[in-house]
Amino acid sequence: MTDDTTPLNKYLAIPKAELHRHLEGSLRLSTMLDIARKHGVTVPVSMMNLSGLVQVQDKDPLTFTNFLEKFKTLRLFYKSPDVIHRVTREAVEDAAKDNVRYLELRFTPVALSRAEGFPLHDVMDWVVASAGEAAKEFNIKVGLIASVNRHESPELAEQVAWLAAEHRTRGLLGLDLAGNEAEFKTQPFHEVFKEAKESGLRITIHAGEWGPAENVRDAIENLGAERIGHGARALEDETVAALAKERGVAFEVCVTSNVQSGVVRALEEHPLSKMIEKGLKVTINTDDPSVSRITLSNEFQLAREKLNIPMDVLKKCALTAAEASFLPDGEKAELVGMLKRELNLQ
Ligand code: ADE
Ligand code: ZN
Repeated sequence: MTDDTTPLNKYLAIPKAELHRHLEGSLRLSTMLDIARKHGVTVPVSMMNLSGLVQVQDKDPLTFTNFLEKFKTLRLFYKSPDVIHRVTREAVEDAAKDNVRYLELRFTPVALSRAEGFPLHDVMDWVVASAGEAAKEFNIKVGLIASVNRHESPELAEQVAWLAAEHRTRGLLGLDLAGNEAEFKTQPFHEVFKEAKESGLRITIHAGEWGPAENVRDAIENLGAERIGHGARALEDETVAALAKERGVAFEVCVTSNVQSGVVRALEEHPLSKMIEKGLKVTINTDDPSVSRITLSNEFQLAREKLNIPMDVLKKCALTAAEASFLPDGEKAELVGMLKRELNLQ
C-alpha cells in the first residue's frame, strides 16, 4: 500500500509516458536472486553484494565504464525462455505500477541471446509475445524498440534490424543504437540504419551522452534519427541544437543515469531546464530503472524539486513523450488524447 503522506505520490499520480527504458536495465534484484538460485548463476549470495554488481552504488565511480560494467554481469542471468518471459513481464508490470500509461521498452537481442546461444529470432519472439501479454494483463500500452550496441559488430546489427523489420506488425516499432559512444563511431552502422528506416522502422540513437554535440548531428544526418537518446550535450553546439529544433527531433532525457555515468559533474549542472527553455522537444525517462535504482516518478520528482522544473512543464514533457512516440498515427492520436484529458492540458 502506498502512503498518502509520501511526497512521491504527487508524481505517481501523474499519468506518464516513457520512451527510453532498457529491458536489460530493468531486472528486479529479487528476480535476479531467484534466477541465480534456480539456474546456478555464480553471483554473491547476499542481496547487497549482488546489488553492487548490477546496480550503481553511492560509492561507485561516476563513469560510463562503471555503468556499462553492470550490463556485463546482467548478461549472466538470461538463462532460459522462461527467464526472458519473466523479466519482460515484470518490467511492464513495474512501469504500470508507476502509473506509466505508455512504455516504449527497448531490448538488446544480442545481449539476451548471447549467454545461452539462443537464436536471435527466438529471443525476439519471446520478448514480443511476453510484452504483448503483459500489456494486456497490466492495462498499459507497450511499444518495443530493438537495440544494437556500437561496440558490437555491424553484421549482428544487420541481423537484428532484419528481424526487427519482420516483427513490425507485432508492435516492434523501431531500432536504437546504444553502447559505448565514447570509443566507437557510427560509420560502420550507417547502411544498417538506412535500410532499417527504409523498411519502416523508426530510428532513435544514443548520442550526445558520452560523446560531443557533433554526435547528435551525426545521428540526425547520417543515421536518420527522429529521436535522440539523452542528447545532454546537444546545447554545447548551437548549430546542433538548431538542427534538432528545425527537424522536430525529440530528446529522451535520463537525468539520474546522466549523473551516475558521469555525463554531468553534478545533478544541479544537468541541462534539462536549459533544453526546455531553448524550445527543444524534451521527454523524461529512466534509461535503466534497476541499474539506477529509480522509477519514472522519482525522475519527475527530481526534475521538479532539484532542477526546479514547474509542474505544468513536467506534465507537458509527459505529453511530449506521447507525441514523439513511434506508435502508428491512429494509436498515437488516441494516446495523446487520453493523456491530454487526464493531464488537463489542451
Ligand atoms: N545501455 C544501457 N544504458 C545505456 C546508456 N545510458 N547509454 C548507452 N547504452 C546503454
Ligand atoms: Zn539508454
